[in-house]
Amino acid sequence: MLSFRNRLTKTDINTIRNIANSTGFFDENDVRINVDIAEDLLCHKDTCHKFLFAEYKDQTVAYVCYGKVPDAKDGTYEIYWLSTHNEYRGLGIGSHLINHLITKLRKKGAEKIYVKTDSKDQYAPTRRFYEKCGFRLQAVLPGYYDDNDGCCIYALNLTRDAFENCQEQYLAAE
Ligand SMILES: CC(C)(COP(=O)(O)OP(=O)(O)OC[C@H]1O[C@@H](n2cnc3c(N)ncnc32)[C@H](O)[C@@H]1OP(=O)(O)O)[C@@H](O)C(=O)NCCC(=O)NCCS
Repeated sequence: MLSFRNRLTKTDINTIRNIANSTGFFDENDVRINVDIAEDLLCHKDTCHKFLFAEYKDQTVAYVCYGKVPDAKDGTYEIYWLSTHNEYRGLGIGSHLINHLITKLRKKGAEKIYVKTDSKDQYAPTRRFYEKCGFRLQAVLPGYYDDNDGCCIYALNLTRDAFENCQEQYLAAE
């Protein structure tokens, strides 16, 4: 049975590092950024990011790091990082985690959630994942991450009609 928690504790530093490393998608710098965010949150140096964790059989198996976009209009959020431990990928955990986040943010008045991801082939399953969760491609910034790796910007519209449509798709896919 999958459960979710918001609370970040000291042991999550290692958990985040292990999960991010296990994916094989993130380089040392990316993993460091994830860990730095968690460390800053623990010592109250950061108020812009939040974590939501998915737990399965008493183990933390996935996390999403997200936040309100400070310079965008109210109700605009961004997913900054998302990882499911490699041993648990493809089991529906990421979809449940995102759906839980969407429900939570909607209650806070969220209208849009953005996420950026890579355009390179390795990330094709990740892009499919976001599309399955209801996100739609808004723009591609060529050469953003690297000369041969652009940035795909996706958005999920949470206004009533769009959200109901997305929920229907989600339930049908379950
Ligand atoms: C993207 C990610 C968080 C999805 O989490 P998940 O728990 O595997 O997601 P789910 O099981 O709910 O959904 C699986 C879907 O995601 C996609 N997917 C992405 N990577 C996958 C993988 N290694 N194995 C299977 N499916 C994968 C597939 O499209 C799949 O759809 P399908 O069920 O129709 O085949 C996870 O695969 C991951 O950590 N990937 C590497 C890191 C990454 O890309 N993070 C996002 C950076 S922006």
